[in-house]
Amino acid sequence: MNIPLVDLKANYRSIKKEVDTAIQDVLDSCSFIMGPFVKKFEEDFARFCQVKHGIGCANGTAALHLALLASGIKKGDEVLTVPNTFIATTECISYVDGKIKFVDVEPQTALINIDALEKAITKKTKVLIVVDLYGQMPDMQRIREIAVKHDLFVIEDAAQAHAAEWMGHQPGFYGDIACFSFFPAKNLGCYGDGGAVMTNYDELAEKIRLFVNHGRTTKYEHMIEGYNYRLDALQAAILDVKLAHLSKWTDLRREHARFYDRNLPSKVGRIIEAKGAKHVYYMYEIRVQQREPLMTYLKQQGIECGIHYPLPLNLQPAYASLGFKKGQFPVSEQLAQEIVSIPIFPELTDQQRQFIVDHIKKFVSQ
Ligand SMILES: Cc1ncc(COP(=O)(O)O)c(C=O)c1O
Repeated sequence: MNIPLVDLKANYRSIKKEVDTAIQDVLDSCSFIMGPFVKKFEEDFARFCQVKHGIGCANGTAALHLALLASGIKKGDEVLTVPNTFIATTECISYVDGKIKFVDVEPQTALINIDALEKAITKKTKVLIVVDLYGQMPDMQRIREIAVKHDLFVIEDAAQAHAAEWMGHQPGFYGDIACFSFFPAKNLGCYGDGGAVMTNYDELAEKIRLFVNHGRTTKYEHMIEGYNYRLDALQAAILDVKLAHLSKWTDLRREHARFYDRNLPSKVGRIIEAKGAKHVYYMYEIRVQQREPLMTYLKQQGIECGIHYPLPLNLQPAYASLGFKKGQFPVSEQLAQEIVSIPIFPELTDQQRQFIVDHIKKFVSQ
C-alpha cells in the first residue's frame, strides 16, 4: 500500500467535473483579477464562517500581514504568540517591525498555555496571535476576556482550522480578525496559493480592502500605499466549488480521528481534542519517543508521515539574533522531538486507516 500524508489526487478526482467547469467559466469570462468570482467566494466563505466580512488575499502569510497592518501596531510593540507554529505566524510580526514574544503551549493540546499568556503580558504588549494548530481552537472565551482586560488586539491564525469551532463559534467570532490559508494541502485548499482575512468589524474590513489592492479607492486613485495581495479569480472559483464540500470533508476527518483515538495502542501518546473544541484534524498527531525508527518503519510500509514542526521558532536560525534560549519553552521543544503527523484526509479508506493502525501497533509491540 502507498498512503500519502494528504491525498490531493484523490480529492481532485472526487470533484473533477465541478472544478473543471468552474475553471472553464473563469477562462470563458476572462475575469481574472478581482471581479465576480472573488466576490462570490468572499461572500460564501464569510457566510460559512458566520463572520460579517471576508476578504480574499494571496496566501495565509499575506492574510497575517494584512491583519497586523490593520491592527494599528507600531514599531517595537510586542506581539505574543507560540513557538510551535509555521514561521509565517512570526514573519508577519517582523514585516511590521513588531517584537516577537513567545508563550509556551499545553502538552495535551499543543495550544497556547493561557496562564503563561496572562503572565507574559506587559505594557508593551499590543497584539496576540492565537494559532489554531492542527485544526483546533484554544479556549477563545478565556482569551477574549484577557484581551479585553489588557486591551489586546487578537488575530486568529486559522490557517489550519477551516470549520473548527470553540463553543460553537468558528475563527473570526472571538478574535478581531481571523486569517486563513488555502495552501493546497489545507482542509480548504486551492490549486496554488490563496488566503482570506475575516472580521466582524466594518472599519477593519475597510482598511484591509485598501491594503490588499494597492490602497485603491478607484482604478487610479490610491488612498494609501498598499500591496498586491489579491486572491486570484481562478483560485476563488475553485475554492467556491470546494467550500460546498467542506462540512462533509470535516465530518470524514473527524470520523477518521475517532477511529485512530479508539484503535491506536495506548502506549502511543496523542494530541487530544479539548472539551469545548471542535477539532477539524488538518493533522492527526501522535507522540512517540522513538520517532525516527517509527517513521522509517512506516515509510518502508508505504505510509508517509510528517513532523509539524521539527524545530520550534525560538530555536530557528532565522531568529538567532533575537536571543531566545534552548529550554526556554520546554513543552514546545519536547513536542518538537516527539510529534508525528500520520495520514488523515477525507478520502482515507477503512482499509488504509486499518493498515496504518496495524503497523503502528506492530512497531510499538516489538
Ligand atoms: C499556522 C500557519 N500559519 C500561516 C501559514 C501561511 O499560509 P500560506 O502558506 O498560505 O502563506 C500556514 C501555512 O502553511 C500555517 O500552517
